Amino acid sequence: MNELSPPPGPALRDGFAYRDGTMHAEDVPLPVIADEIGTPCWVYSQAVLEDRFRTFDAAFAGIPHLVCYALKANSNQAVIRTFAELGAGADIVSEGELRRALAAGVAPERIVFAGVGKTAPEMAAAVAAGILQFNVESEPELERLSAVASGMGRVAQVALRVNPDVDAGTHAKITTGTPETKFGIELDQARDVAARAAALPGIRLAGLAMHIGSQLTSVEPYRAAFGRLVGFARTLMSEDGHRLERLDLGGGLGVHYRHAPPVDLPAYAAAAREALAGFPGTVVLEPGRWLVADAGILLARVQYVKRGSLKTFVILDAAMNDLVRPAMYDAWHPVRPVAEPRPGAEPVTVDVVGPICESSDVIATARTMPPVEPGELVAIGVAGAYGAVMSSIYNSRLLAPEVMVRGGDFSVVRARPSYDEMIAHERLAPWQTRRT
Ligand code: LLP
Repeated sequence: MNELSPPPGPALRDGFAYRDGTMHAEDVPLPVIADEIGTPCWVYSQAVLEDRFRTFDAAFAGIPHLVCYALKANSNQAVIRTFAELGAGADIVSEGELRRALAAGVAPERIVFAGVGKTAPEMAAAVAAGILQFNVESEPELERLSAVASGMGRVAQVALRVNPDVDAGTHAKITTGTPETKFGIELDQARDVAARAAALPGIRLAGLAMHIGSQLTSVEPYRAAFGRLVGFARTLMSEDGHRLERLDLGGGLGVHYRHAPPVDLPAYAAAAREALAGFPGTVVLEPGRWLVADAGILLARVQYVKRGSLKTFVILDAAMNDLVRPAMYDAWHPVRPVAEPRPGAEPVTVDVVGPICESSDVIATARTMPPVEPGELVAIGVAGAYGAVMSSIYNSRLLAPEVMVRGGDFSVVRARPSYDEMIAHERLAPWQTRRT
């Protein structure tokens, strides 16, 4: 496969396909969205979102399970609502995500709260909301949670997140399952922490959790980690008398960006079933990227084509402040012209960049793709996960709006702010004289 051929794989990708020479989002031609909303903008396919959730959920049919969508991948209200209506819970990592989940209609008893640095007010908000469980990552966190919950006359349900010491074989910045990372409690310390949990008044130890990294395309690290997690759970139950009701297997399932095929979902689910055989409780799953990546694109317009002596630069109106993944992780995203290239169009090798004033502002480096002209639209693919949520207003660029498509309809689900809104929270200090 090369950059010009459509990616292989499930029909899901058909959320964005050429039809009559123009790329559509479901039944809506992308130029219609660009003309009405302006560029850059994010475009999501509700059909793909729904299809992904149903497919994921179905893979665990027959075993008690709860799919808690990891909001961090894409926390737009319309995206969360799409999943909530299909029965999803939420995996949250902050009070902001708690509020987003509740506002979008996720039932509190389907919310799990992860993260190594929960503050006391965040804990209190989640206890008050009545969430399902806190995934606790250290003993000091456990002590704090107990104090917060018992101060409120409540008992917090806890899953200890253990660090199974399995290398996920993914990008260093998104690996989390080894002791070099800040995540989870190392297995040989976790038994004592579990004993401590059982002794604390504001805590009920209800389960264990793990998450070994993101964008895993092989099932093997999962298999190894599930085995260690379940083995440890059995020890806690049979030798230490803990009553564990839930095992949270985390997220991290990889999607198809370029070379590596997506993770084999049936094999992943089979590995989980195998490891869990005989475990009497519920399995919690926290997929983020897998549910949303393929459902979104970043739609941008070519501003200039600049031909240097060494390179040709395609300069877009989208930039690293919109999609930071290429700059931050050297991530590869497909870039395709919205107007279907003529058969036989001679490909060119270009750097696709944004207007931001630094060299790391790249969308694609040395990309071989059909030639594009100023004024043309391009779709940056597989951008539904860790796209809009990681954007910033660097260079004082407005956050790009988000658009949801469903069949032939589309709707702005996050508006482009105004410049006045962008600076509305800023003030001069009282000692500065305002120039009028
Ligand atoms: N659960 C926990 C505890 C996590 O830390 C994460 C992701 C997930 C679930 C969801 O993982 P997913 O299924 O989406 O892989 N910004 C990076 C990815 C960071 C992932 C952080 N944790 C990127 O753009 O690749």
